Amino acid sequence: MTAATIDTPRTEPAIHPLWVRVTHWINAVAILVMIGSGWQIYDASPLLDGLRFGKSISLGNWLAGALLWHFAAMWVLVINGIVYVTLGIATGRFRRKLFPIYPRQVIADIKAALTFKLAHDDLSHYNAVQKVLYTGIILTGVVIVLSGLSIWKPVQFQELTALFGGYDAARYVHFAAMAAIVAFLVVHISLALIVPKSLRAMITGR
Ligand code: HEM
Repeated sequence: MTAATIDTPRTEPAIHPLWVRVTHWINAVAILVMIGSGWQIYDASPLLDGLRFGKSISLGNWLAGALLWHFAAMWVLVINGIVYVTLGIATGRFRRKLFPIYPRQVIADIKAALTFKLAHDDLSHYNAVQKVLYTGIILTGVVIVLSGLSIWKPVQFQELTALFGGYDAARYVHFAAMAAIVAFLVVHISLALIVPKSLRAMITGR
């Protein structure tokens, strides 16, 4: 046994409790399936001139196949999301980890990040940039689910569809939320690879 293992008692609380890790990775798989199949569905009726994703990076092979993937992963995403958000609120994790957010601190941390001076020593504490990104992506998750519901069942959820400005506007909102999630993922996955111990903590909890 090394000194490090003696110094680190097993009773020490995990950086990310089991429920965070399980819901995080279920969410990651569900989101990737939703994005891949969503791109195939988009290609069947594109919104932006000249923008097509193509079969090589999308999932489902054709419209009907992609819809099956999209609706299957939708249940996983929504049920898992409800569990994560409910536990995040009930356990006080969101309040402790994501709030408060001070704009001045966000600006200071962005500057520090751009000059590679942002500290990563304490993984149990999120810096202001992480707080903004995680809070933003959780809210984007709510928007993408609600706009998805309004284009899936525009008659049954007509008040919701109207809230987005109608069916066509809800499609644009759904697309914009997807683009925001893809942009988040580029930054999020790059940072996880640059700071591998954060990735280890999201897998093992320590
Ligand atoms: C598949 C690739 C992914 C990887 C490698 C990854 C990696 C990580 C890592 C290492 C952390 C902890 C980082 C830290 O200490 O800041 C984390 C946290 C987080 N990730 Fe991801 N992630 C992925 C996908 C996603 C997706 C698809 C979303 C949502 C759209 C997401 C949302 C979050 C959130 C909200 C947290 C904070 C969780 C909490 O503390 O409650 N991640 N991720």
